[in-house]
Amino acid sequence: MTDIISVIAPINMAVIKYWGKRDEKLIIPLNDSVSGTLDPKVMCAKTSVCARSAFEEDELWLNGIKESITSERLQNCLKKIRELAIEQKSVDEEFLKFKVHICSENNFPTAAGLASSAAGYACLVTALATLYKVKTDISALARIGSGSACRSVYGGFVRWYAGSNPDGSDSIAKPVVDSSHWPDMRVLVLVIADTKKHTSSTKGMKTTVETSELMKHRIQVSVPSRIEKICEAIVKKDFPTFAELTMKDSNEFHAVCLSAFPPCIYLTNTSLKIIEMVHYYNNICGTIKVAYTFDAGPNACLYLLEEEVPKMLSVIKYFFPFSSEDFIKGLKAPPIKEFPI
Ligand code: PMV
Repeated sequence: MTDIISVIAPINMAVIKYWGKRDEKLIIPLNDSVSGTLDPKVMCAKTSVCARSAFEEDELWLNGIKESITSERLQNCLKKIRELAIEQKSVDEEFLKFKVHICSENNFPTAAGLASSAAGYACLVTALATLYKVKTDISALARIGSGSACRSVYGGFVRWYAGSNPDGSDSIAKPVVDSSHWPDMRVLVLVIADTKKHTSSTKGMKTTVETSELMKHRIQVSVPSRIEKICEAIVKKDFPTFAELTMKDSNEFHAVCLSAFPPCIYLTNTSLKIIEMVHYYNNICGTIKVAYTFDAGPNACLYLLEEEVPKMLSVIKYFFPFSSEDFIKGLKAPPIKEFPI
């Protein structure tokens, strides 16, 4: 039997965005959020962990490169899991002294607004919790690593509750519906830049919370009014309502980012062109058939039903003739991937 634990976890794409923390250290959000979890077979992180007496230090490899393990969030996850192992006496004392080696890789661009940290931390804490045999709510552990990671521990559509307890004990994720609920739901990810984003989510959130007037409206009015409606639309498989709320939330999130000072600008001209394209398509359809949403980066995520995929791909090819040299040179021609949730 091997002593290496390997886990894969998918990315999730928020339809009601988490943006802003009420507790920076414990990573407790200001608002509830909802996301769809993508098929782990297509876009995922894979993490392997191993603890041995022969290891001299805790060590970390990310996408094949040895990285510093001193990141506060990673240390918080390790510390919490080791504390739980002591509390639950889940492994013997000797094992607890062993150093751990962690190796993680993504099959998609890291830190380009494609929720790579969500998949990464969901994987990491699941692997470590298995290694140390601890029993706990995995979503709460994942949250300590990267907030949105708590939603990646479930399939289907997932809601992360902000909670009200000061220690974050009720800030956990729960499934809205499982992955079998809406079988014809699809996601197209349009990768228009695979470089690292210049303002991290952490920094962007802090600036927004501290300086944006619009943020108050988002937290007090907009998100609370959308969250129940979108969960209901998901349960009822009401695509037009789901899609409208998704696009409105993405637009408001980016407007709020732009209203921070200095502004956090994540969308590019290509992102804006994608927004126009989707509205153009919905308009000629006479009803909402496709929804866009953008995380903290320029890449688009389109939610649509399976029957729309071929039509949407033709529209995308019409709007973005990838063979154009300018496009390829200026923006790196995007691979378009199609994923069932
Ligand atoms: O979990 P973080 O720190 O990577 O923040 C994620 C924030 C967004 O992706 C923009 C929104 C979300 O809910 O996933």
